Amino acid sequence: MSAWRKYLLLPRLIRLSRSAPKDRPLAWDRYWAGITSTGPGGEVLWDAGTDHEFLGYRDILLRHLDPMLPVVDVGCGHGSFTRSLAGIFSEAIGVDISRHAVTRAADESAGIGNIRFDIRDMTAPGAAAGLVDGPANVFVRGVLHVLTPEDQAALAENLRVLAGDEGTVFLAETNFQGNPVEYVTHLGATRHSIPAPLERAIRGLPMPGHFGPKERSLALPPAAWDLLEEGAVAIETNPVTGVERQSRVPGYVAALRPRRESVQASSPQAEAGY
Ligand SMILES: C[S@@+](CC[C@H](N)C(=O)[O-])C[C@H]1O[C@@H](n2cnc3c(N)ncnc32)[C@H](O)[C@@H]1O
Repeated sequence: MSAWRKYLLLPRLIRLSRSAPKDRPLAWDRYWAGITSTGPGGEVLWDAGTDHEFLGYRDILLRHLDPMLPVVDVGCGHGSFTRSLAGIFSEAIGVDISRHAVTRAADESAGIGNIRFDIRDMTAPGAAAGLVDGPANVFVRGVLHVLTPEDQAALAENLRVLAGDEGTVFLAETNFQGNPVEYVTHLGATRHSIPAPLERAIRGLPMPGHFGPKERSLALPPAAWDLLEEGAVAIETNPVTGVERQSRVPGYVAALRPRRESVQASSPQAEAGY
């Protein structure tokens, strides 16, 4: 599409996105309540229906995350990545703000012994409490880029508590540089048609941002986090248009560990002055 023609989409985009609830937790739960199919040919925009993207993360996960520790999949959605994680780690715990997402994730994971799910707003103060017994690894895919900078910082605080002094945090986020029209065009929207999983997301969810090295250094600053590795990846989305480049979004991955001083400074013992 020529450079300006794609902007003919703008009125439709504005009309569609007007119906998305402003209340984010409500928007996510309504979105998941309306989903009737996942996996290949399903309705979820960020679900490629294969484990190809996950397999690309295996090496970096095994390089930095101790598989004997549990892993918490924060913002797990319908649990496809949680299930892949359960194949590597001693236990996988999927957590999501949406009750409907968690119900679907648990149903789709029936029969897997080392997996469980919980409903929590992981930006809420204290949300990490009681989720795991000790330190845990954390996996986050496609969550930070949908949060405000304030919520990103609040989530990071809970990630730090979950990881403690032994766990490692792995992030995979979309980092598309461009405005919303460019973003939806990249995903296959034209002024004549919008792929159904994309239209469903535009109608129901807040417009996402992007998350890369700059956003990471603000939300998980070097003073509190050791950056073990970072790089560029392709986040794989629903291949609904059949055009490969339209289902791959430029993305960012990183592995980080809380700095020991920051864990100790905020441990209950330190706060009590022991
Ligand atoms: C783009 S989806 C990614 C889902 C999953 N990680 C995946 O890659 O398939 C973002 C998910 O984050 C969840 N979410 C949004 N805000 C959250 C919050 N504050 N706490 C926990 N989960 C949240 C949403 O309900 C949704 O399932």
